[in-house]
Amino acid sequence: MDTIPELKRNRFPSMNFEAEILTAPHDNSEPYMISAMRSLTAEEYVEAFKSFLDHSTEHQCMDEFNKEEMPSIMASLGNGKQTINILGVGSGTELVNQASDLQNVSFVWHQLTSSEYEQQVKEKGTDKKFDFIHMIQMLYRVEDVLSTIKFFHSCLDHHGKLLIIILSDSSGWASLWKKYRHCLPPTDSGHYITSNSITDVLKRLGVEYHVYEFPSGWDITECFIEGDPVGGHMMDFLTGTKNFLGTAPPGLRQRLQEALCQPECSSKKDGRIIFSNNLSMIVVES
Ligand SMILES: C[S@@+](CC[C@H](N)C(=O)[O-])C[C@H]1O[C@@H](n2cnc3c(N)ncnc32)[C@H](O)[C@@H]1O
Repeated sequence: MDTIPELKRNRFPSMNFEAEILTAPHDNSEPYMISAMRSLTAEEYVEAFKSFLDHSTEHQCMDEFNKEEMPSIMASLGNGKQTINILGVGSGTELVNQASDLQNVSFVWHQLTSSEYEQQVKEKGTDKKFDFIHMIQMLYRVEDVLSTIKFFHSCLDHHGKLLIIILSDSSGWASLWKKYRHCLPPTDSGHYITSNSITDVLKRLGVEYHVYEFPSGWDITECFIEGDPVGGHMMDFLTGTKNFLGTAPPGLRQRLQEALCQPECSSKKDGRIIFSNNLSMIVVES
């Protein structure tokens, strides 16, 4: 799930990297019940997320960004330092464990949330600075978006950069969260934030940034096929709800399925329904 492999280290043969990764600990608590509908447990979330990744161009879109924009972004990091210190926040562990091209990267894993890390840094008075910090598709679940960005920005070294990847305001998610919020169940927790909310925060903090927009799509056709297990998992990811299609009141289910087909959410291509998953890559200067 991590993006570090996609930074394609071979393109920077003269640099070494030290990466630190923050990832939220697993939550083994009992799921919260709201009548028959309930939120996803951590394990169920991972399963639903995989269905989303399998049917969307989420990571391919990030790969495009890595190929097209990252080389010049990386080139200006660290001002000639030999070792580039990287902090990945909310990266997960899956792909890094399997990657074979990461010999010149030393990893330190922190199984703790961004706010726990912030507390730890403040308590210990450590002042470790990073040349590159990335927060990829994870700000939806932090406690306080502004203070989280402010804190991690303060962890940047001179000539450092913070990369935030977040859903674009041109995505179907943005329309769903703004215009069709009433179609979403209360089991769907977290912040409904998209790129503009982040750039508003960055303006308030008075920091310099650049936004790159990259198109991405999610084929949700199976979500409309009665009894389709993949469609079921994808609806669970979309709604943050376990077995949404089986437990949602029929009216809510119908409203959501109708909203998903609206042109501000999706388009039809070769008979398939493609939900817009456009991403904004926001590069913040130190
Ligand atoms: C949608 S996944 C994205 C994973 C990966 N960055 C990617 O793009 O494939 C969100 C990740 O953020 C992590 N996460 C959520 N809230 C977090 C927090 N407050 N601190 C650290 N990690 C968090 C989750 O554990 C999960 O791995």
